[in-house]
Amino acid sequence: MVTAETNKTNNQKVLDWVNEMASLTQPNEIYWCDGSKEEYDDLCTKMMAAGTLSPLNPEKRPGSFLANSDPDDVARVEDRTFICSKLEKDAGPTNNWMDPDEMKTILNGLFENSMAGRTLYVIPFSMGPLGSHIAHIGVQLTDSPYVAASMRVMTRMGKAALDILGDDGEFVPCMHSVGAPLNSNQDDVPWPNNKTKYIVQYPEERSIWSYGSGYGGNALLGKKCFSLRIASVMARDEGWLAEHMLILGLESPKGETTYVAAAFPSACGKTNLAMLIPPEGFEGWKVRTVGDDIAWIKPGEDGRLYAINPEAGYFGVVPGTSMKTNPSAMEMMKSDTIFTNVALTDDGDVWWEGHDDPAPDHLIDWKGNDWSPDSGELAAHPNARFTCATSQCPTVDPAWDDPSGVPISAFIFGGRLSHTFPLVYQSLNWEHGVYMAATMGSEATAAAVNQAAIRRDPMAMLPFCGYNMGDYWAHWLKLGQSLKNPPKIFRVNWFRKDSKGGFVWPGFGENMRILNWVVDRVNGKEEAAESPFGHMPKYQDINWTGLEEFGKENFAEVMNINRQAGKREVQEIKSYFETFEDRLPTEMEEQRVAFDARLDNSPELWRVDG
Ligand code: GTP
Ligand code: SPV
Ligand code: MN
Repeated sequence: MVTAETNKTNNQKVLDWVNEMASLTQPNEIYWCDGSKEEYDDLCTKMMAAGTLSPLNPEKRPGSFLANSDPDDVARVEDRTFICSKLEKDAGPTNNWMDPDEMKTILNGLFENSMAGRTLYVIPFSMGPLGSHIAHIGVQLTDSPYVAASMRVMTRMGKAALDILGDDGEFVPCMHSVGAPLNSNQDDVPWPNNKTKYIVQYPEERSIWSYGSGYGGNALLGKKCFSLRIASVMARDEGWLAEHMLILGLESPKGETTYVAAAFPSACGKTNLAMLIPPEGFEGWKVRTVGDDIAWIKPGEDGRLYAINPEAGYFGVVPGTSMKTNPSAMEMMKSDTIFTNVALTDDGDVWWEGHDDPAPDHLIDWKGNDWSPDSGELAAHPNARFTCATSQCPTVDPAWDDPSGVPISAFIFGGRLSHTFPLVYQSLNWEHGVYMAATMGSEATAAAVNQAAIRRDPMAMLPFCGYNMGDYWAHWLKLGQSLKNPPKIFRVNWFRKDSKGGFVWPGFGENMRILNWVVDRVNGKEEAAESPFGHMPKYQDINWTGLEEFGKENFAEVMNINRQAGKREVQEIKSYFETFEDRLPTEMEEQRVAFDARLDNSPELWRVDG
């Protein structure tokens, strides 16, 4: 049996754990990642030989690769994701649960010999700037070189993290295997994985076990498993927030920067908003990106909240990305990027649905088959992603790596909702804001299986909250009370549709107009219309320069409130809240009743223009 080289660290806990896991999984060798560029290049070379990565044309995409996954391993598997707290009630009605001892028996069986014929990579990593008081350390063990290479892009990985951990530092153990042992005479496949998949979090132990998948959030355990599911539990215990939020800074022409954090469910526009380019009418304004997916937010001594992006790279959705929708992402992906599940062009570049270039006559699609525009199939998988370092983001904020974090002035929450919900509104106070965030809904995305068309996705954390959602709302309520200067809370909805089924709001860069109103409100601008939903901008409160043609009528169409639709929403929330039983904070039901009363006092059709 192979054992851990003891000269890598003096941290006995790490050494003991690596040895214990190696004895369970029986790898051929153990490799400690140092995080160097040479190591990354070696991993990529190894993956090219195995057929996992194809190099792209160095003239068109220097330093870049294409990976095609197994068609059975293309997204997070929410139905295979478990929160194994001792009590089922502590996982709550929104999580899959299994008794931790029962789960350990299953996983010990699956991990036994699971790395035979493979290398066990030891990946020490820091989520957050090295040494930041908001950051935390994890160690992932994996048999996937794709994961090892991706972790170097997505986290501060290697020797530096191990140094911070020191001889007796705490770390979150993240155990991962693709579940595809190799016999001595067996050829490997380009994307090893297993039909059986388990993504398991033990919140009381603060540990993670993931089996059977090599893709995204299933396998890059620093991301959703650690930074959200385990970190949300740490945050509850320690008085902070771990959220599925982008962080951006809005710099005004006067040079003042306002930071906001915004939660949208998966594939609902976080990356787009985080990298927004201001449109005509916003000369002198800049949007600067701190993060595009996850925020760790801790109270500062001044009674404000400070946020860091725990990640060091983006794992962003590719299809739909173009010079029109996200020019910064297009710029970012020009080099040194791993693309997963997009299509390969004949000249060694990549293409996807929604690209600025029209569909080429011939492609190799994400499944490796010949493709032409009349194949009737998608060339790229809808959840195809790019993996790319944050430092390549052209709009990156100078403070993105600042260990103290950035002060947050507003929280924005938004789902994908084709009706009822207005373009933007502001909460009446913190409790009402928590209600607005907790009752957020969205139309389904790639990782959700067997979901109804609309699902409630509180704070965009439905698949990511590591404990009872009712307790999580209580935590939000309590944290707000403790802050001298809590952020203002907003909801937005870019996705309202007209009677023909088209989006009314142009979205993307034009969302700047709404961010501008948010900043105005944060800075104490008094005027707003009062609707049953909350404070709302009137037409004249928005800067329309460059988008005059949108006009008052369209604005009314995305802002007006239909009382009957609102009443239906209130009824749906009633039965939704009942599922949380005694874990539902009383404030939430009070907010629901107050909302109902405001609707009763409003006209049949509340019009923003009076
Ligand atoms: P995860 O990485 O999965 O957490 O998601 P994300 O929230 O970062 O998703 P992303 O930004 O990649 O969302 C992409 C999807 O949102 C695409 O379908 C876009 O077309 C759509 N989208 C983003 N912004 C807008 C907008 O302003 N209007 C409309 N209509 N669609 C938008
Ligand atoms: C999401 O699904 O919200 C993602 C992608 O950000 S993954 O990392 O796969 O979770
Ligand atoms: Mn996400």
